[in-house]
Amino acid sequence: MVTLIKNIKKLIQTEDTPRKWVAGKEMANLPAIDNAWLMIEDDKIVDFGTMNNCPEPDEASEVDVSGRIVMPAFCDSHTHLVYAGSREIEYGDKIRGLSYEEIAKKGGGILNSSKLLAQTSEDELYEQALERIHEIIGFGTGAVEIKSGYGLDTENELKMLRVIRRLKETTPITIKSTFLGAHSIPMEYRNDQSKFVDKVINEMIPAVAAEELADYIDVFCDKGFFTVENTERILMAGMKYGLIGKIHANELDYSGGIQVGVKYNARSVDHLEFVGPDEIKAIQGSETMPTVLPGAAFFLNMKLSPVREMMNAGLPLALASDYNPGSSPSGNMKFIMSLGCINYKMTPEEVINATTLNSAYAMGLEEELGSVAKGKIANLIITKPIPSYEYLPYAYTSHLVEQIMLNGELINLD
Ligand code: NIG
Ligand code: FE
Repeated sequence: MVTLIKNIKKLIQTEDTPRKWVAGKEMANLPAIDNAWLMIEDDKIVDFGTMNNCPEPDEASEVDVSGRIVMPAFCDSHTHLVYAGSREIEYGDKIRGLSYEEIAKKGGGILNSSKLLAQTSEDELYEQALERIHEIIGFGTGAVEIKSGYGLDTENELKMLRVIRRLKETTPITIKSTFLGAHSIPMEYRNDQSKFVDKVINEMIPAVAAEELADYIDVFCDKGFFTVENTERILMAGMKYGLIGKIHANELDYSGGIQVGVKYNARSVDHLEFVGPDEIKAIQGSETMPTVLPGAAFFLNMKLSPVREMMNAGLPLALASDYNPGSSPSGNMKFIMSLGCINYKMTPEEVINATTLNSAYAMGLEEELGSVAKGKIANLIITKPIPSYEYLPYAYTSHLVEQIMLNGELINLD
């Protein structure tokens, strides 16, 4: 089946030669074509150009999008959107002054979600997560990474990962799955973290691998959570089963999480509030994508990651939502772009690069998604009529996605 999208006001993030990511000063450039057409065959982009030389195929379904911008759908490379219930009670505690770490120490936070998850059936968990998947598709997300991590024991971790697999099989969005067994230390192991890590390594990782439930492996390597030494052990164990690292690093301190992630060739290191010259040096020349999560820093009122320093040092940068019940209960990537602009002083071009091509790389999808290029999968946003692409992060709560195309098919948004 051939689809021809015509009269596109501006087709953005176009590529003739595919790039794996955009880095440093290059992030300020956003290739685009004014007054464009785009042809899709089955699930792939086959060609695009300006309306001056628009093809006239015999049999194509034509979509006229005058006044509208077309761009790659967002790739959200870091979420925890499979979870049970919600944690708005802690939100109150936070407003009254407790920090994320203090809430976690009291047995709240991740442990609270873990308790709820243990009481929730796999089917119910799937239904709750499915609703969030539909929600983010409506926001313009075409690919999402989802982590386990609220199980904290083998049975419940497998339950989460099976839900993610079912979402992969039953929804049109592209999903990558990450095993985050080491997300928090269960109460009974609080005095002996390495004993719990033994369990992650000897029991959980082999079980996850046996069912081929994960693409990546993550560890919360930070102050009050997992040490560098234990992170290293987990990464090595995961790599034996072909699991690649994606690390929660340097959110609460200069934890060494970035360095250990890069050492084991992690696909990404994420959060990055605490980044100095040593951390920047560690990432330079590596294949690891630094990923900032503006929603979590916004929601927890945290110190902001020094994104300009990282880009000035020539690094690429991705932005993701961190959609989770504790530190970022939103998966709205357009709002993440706005936070990138407002709080981190990134330009509209930089935030679009960070939420499309660079975040596709952060989840190993840069060859299939993240830009408008021949041969890539047609995951696209068609906006409402808007004056310019800068309007997207500017109008920070307006819903501007009119249609989304996933795998070459227009999805009905209602
Ligand atoms: O990425 N930092 C660790 N984990 C999550 C929060 C999970 C939660 O609080 O439920 C995060 O922010
Ligand atoms: Fe996270």
